[in-house]
Amino acid sequence: MTTDIYVPRDASALSLGAEAVARAIAVEARARRVDVRIVRNGSRGLYWLEPMVEVATPAGRVAYGSVKAADVASLFAANFLSGGAHPLSQGLTEEIPYLKSQQRLTAARVGVIDPTSIADYVASGGYQGLRKALAMTQAEIVQAVLDSGLRGRGGAAFPTGIKWKTVLDQNAAQKYVTCNADEGDSGTFSDRMLMEGDPLTLIEGMTIAGIAVGATQGYIYLRVEYPHAYATLNEALNAARQARYLGPDVMGSGRKFELEVRLGAGAYICGEETSMLESLEGKRGEIRVRPPLPAIKGLFGQPTVVNNVVTLATVPIILDRGSEFYRNFGTGKSRGTLPLQLAGNVRRGGLIERAFGLSLRELLYDYGGGSASGRPIRAVQVGGPLGAYIPASQFDTAIDYEALTAIGALLGHGGVVVFDDTVDMAQMARFAMEFCAIESCGKCTPCRIGSIRGVEVIDRIIAGVERERNLGLLADLCETMLQGSLCGLGGMTPFPVQSILKHFAEDFQASARH
Ligand SMILES: Cc1cc2nc3c(=O)[nH]c(=O)nc-3n(C[C@H](O)[C@H](O)[C@H](O)COP(=O)(O)O)c2cc1C
Ligand code: SF4
Repeated sequence: MTTDIYVPRDASALSLGAEAVARAIAVEARARRVDVRIVRNGSRGLYWLEPMVEVATPAGRVAYGSVKAADVASLFAANFLSGGAHPLSQGLTEEIPYLKSQQRLTAARVGVIDPTSIADYVASGGYQGLRKALAMTQAEIVQAVLDSGLRGRGGAAFPTGIKWKTVLDQNAAQKYVTCNADEGDSGTFSDRMLMEGDPLTLIEGMTIAGIAVGATQGYIYLRVEYPHAYATLNEALNAARQARYLGPDVMGSGRKFELEVRLGAGAYICGEETSMLESLEGKRGEIRVRPPLPAIKGLFGQPTVVNNVVTLATVPIILDRGSEFYRNFGTGKSRGTLPLQLAGNVRRGGLIERAFGLSLRELLYDYGGGSASGRPIRAVQVGGPLGAYIPASQFDTAIDYEALTAIGALLGHGGVVVFDDTVDMAQMARFAMEFCAIESCGKCTPCRIGSIRGVEVIDRIIAGVERERNLGLLADLCETMLQGSLCGLGGMTPFPVQSILKHFAEDFQASARH
């Protein structure tokens, strides 16, 4: 009898030695003459347990983590092929509380299947969404996405159905679907995990988008720092092409959709959609002035859908299970689920997909288990480098678009970075301005020059030079950047700075610092 053993090929697991673990398992199995099949799955997103090895037993998959190559012999000796007891045993994977309490819709297959196997994908319900979409009119598909309440998961939270309708309504010989896989926000990795763990869901979502709006060509704009996602995506694309889920005759429908991956330019600004389109066209990643919107005049001047990986990877389940099913998750205008990413100074970092509405406190303590250092959590930054810092007094805030906006914060791509009470928030404010100065595309003055002046002003405040005057200057500068910048980089850099001035002003006091 062959036993299936799952060893993740996700970048996080690889960085912690998964390759050596897989090799050690193969060698040990040969030496013991036992028949095993090693499946290289994605990560389940329980990062503190990586590399997390799972064994398929009649009772279900049993997890062991975190496994080192040196542990492998003892795992065999403990009869782990039958789920035997071992100090690294985590019990049945699906019963681990961190996973069991999640509501995985978008990331349902991540870490479960072989990411490049069409057979695994179809056996777990894959391509049902596309099958249903092909039996619908274009307007019906767009309406289903609209009715689901799905909003863009890349940061701006714009309703996906409205964007698609705009592209559908354009008369053009060529339209495009582009996927923004630049994932530049600090502490975010849900796009990467999806692309490494279940790329076919993204490919299916993009194909549905193409059929819906009348686009025959798609591009995934992938950040160059993701070589493992690049490899997995290309393997999955080849498999989909061979099985005729992509190409001139998608699922025998007579409809065409082609898809390619393009590597990014290593700049944060290339994640902004108009810069991304410039970069896709082979030009320098620089903002385009809007209007026209990309949905009207996008890639190569043609109507273009631009959506984030998570947005597009959520479309198949909406088409398969129906808009009603999806919109029944969530709260208010934040419908569905969001794969949150917990990182920084936290005991149990990882991927947590839950319906909108759980509180930051639940996320940080029930899932995260508090800080890794054991010290009190003082602040979290939500939504990447342009997101506000939220103090502990606001940890009961619900994680949804409206609740976070109400406290002057934003959800962005769902990244939550944790800081304990040793953090120097004045330095964090400086870092926000410095980041903007480094990453600015240079097209507009408030951002290009303002961010450099911002670093200087903060340095003066920290040094105690004319503190009151410089604090006033910093407030003015933030307002100018907020109002006068051409895009979100310069326009949102004030958010972290202002949140620090509001909630952590004491860190600017020299007395508190020396
Ligand atoms: C400076 C900046 C960086 C951005 N980086 C990303 C990114 O890395 N990935 C992403 O999906 N969206 C990013 N966005 C948002 C995109 O401009 C755009 O709103 C998004 O790709 C649209 O897809 P969605 O509607 O599915 O969210 C960024 C925006 C700004 C202003
Ligand atoms: S705000 Fe910054 S990144 Fe955006 S267009 Fe202006 S200079 Fe470029």
